[in-house]
Amino acid sequence: MEKQDLRISRYRILRQLGSGGMGEVYAAEDERLRRKVAIKLIAADKASDSAARQRFEREAQAASALNHPNICTIFEINDHEGQPFLVMEYLEGQDLGKLSAAGPAELSSLLKWGVELTDALAAAHSHGIVHRDIKPANVFVNNRGNAKILDFGLAMLQEPSNGDTVSKLSTALTCMGSPMGTVAYMSPEQARGEELDARTDLFSLGAVLYELAAGQTPFPGPTPAVVFSSILTANPIPLSQTRTDVPPELERIINKALQKDRQARYQSAEEMKQDLNRLRPRQRTTHPRSPARSPTCRQPKTSRALACCCPRNGGRVGRRPNVVFSAIENDPHRNGLSSLHDCGLTFSECQSRQKSGLSGRCTSR
Ligand SMILES: Nc1ncnc2c1ncn2[C@@H]1O[C@H](COP(=O)(O)OP(=O)(O)O)[C@@H](O)[C@H]1O
Ligand SMILES: [Mg+2]
Repeated sequence: MEKQDLRISRYRILRQLGSGGMGEVYAAEDERLRRKVAIKLIAADKASDSAARQRFEREAQAASALNHPNICTIFEINDHEGQPFLVMEYLEGQDLGKLSAAGPAELSSLLKWGVELTDALAAAHSHGIVHRDIKPANVFVNNRGNAKILDFGLAMLQEPSNGDTVSKLSTALTCMGSPMGTVAYMSPEQARGEELDARTDLFSLGAVLYELAAGQTPFPGPTPAVVFSSILTANPIPLSQTRTDVPPELERIINKALQKDRQARYQSAEEMKQDLNRLRPRQRTTHPRSPARSPTCRQPKTSRALACCCPRNGGRVGRRPNVVFSAIENDPHRNGLSSLHDCGLTFSECQSRQKSGLSGRCTSR
């Protein structure tokens, strides 16, 4: 049947968005609520397979137990003429599989997504849910640049065991319908078919971040057997050898996530998030400084707008590098007030610098 002509329950199929191990994903219109949704339709050959059906149900249950901005929201699970389908929020953008195929990512994006994904994993783990299939194709970056985890199809609810939270892994289930793609991001314990806990997701996320940084997977190989062997025994090429702008701290974070021994790895997504967050450039505030930090250049309330222009000679002025001010000098029409806020000099400091000819010039216009 032509999917474009298909109507499933109250959903009208619009076009195919992607496909994966479980089936195909379509954009559709919810005709009652008049909104776009994404529908995952379990593949016809899998619809009769009880393990596949279980996996599908599990995805719906796991993801709908979570309400997080970085996890794709599930609206409904249902059956259409014996074929199960899942309705979820419609995302516009690209999955990381396609994005990372285009080459290494900007470090700022990598850090942003890293923080979002660790935050989402921390939420899932705190509900006792381990994703177990973190890989680029299961992470979607929407048009606003936010990362969302998809496909909780392999997710497993953890059961407490001897004080530890673990889940039994069936290697057959993990590998079901997942060729090379998933293998490349598997943790060593997953590759060995051992019991899993939340730390398996941190290894897989480490592999995703490595690939985003390096433009290649950490454990490459021509066949699943070679990849498995590499995951179990080899060390990835140091990130600093793959690109020059990787901060040593980022390399350390990714290496820690990729530790083969899970005791040596990050022990929680939250811990990894904190480390990634510390590396993110601090957002510059656009709000004016509070009067409590006065007097600054903008304090004198004269009728004139004031502009403080400092030199671009590589030296430092006041408490901030003067690179901030080059933008001001390039933009003579900009209202000087926010510039003065950036400057960090008091008005009198600025004037006295100008008078003494040390650096900068304070002007009024
Ligand atoms: N909610 C969505 N909105 C847009 N595209 C999606 C959505 N969910 C999945 N996709 C696309 O479909 C692909 C397969 O989806 P996924 O949930 O991973 O299915 P599978 O279980 O078959 O692997 C994703 O890589 C993505 O490109
Ligand atoms: Mg998938």
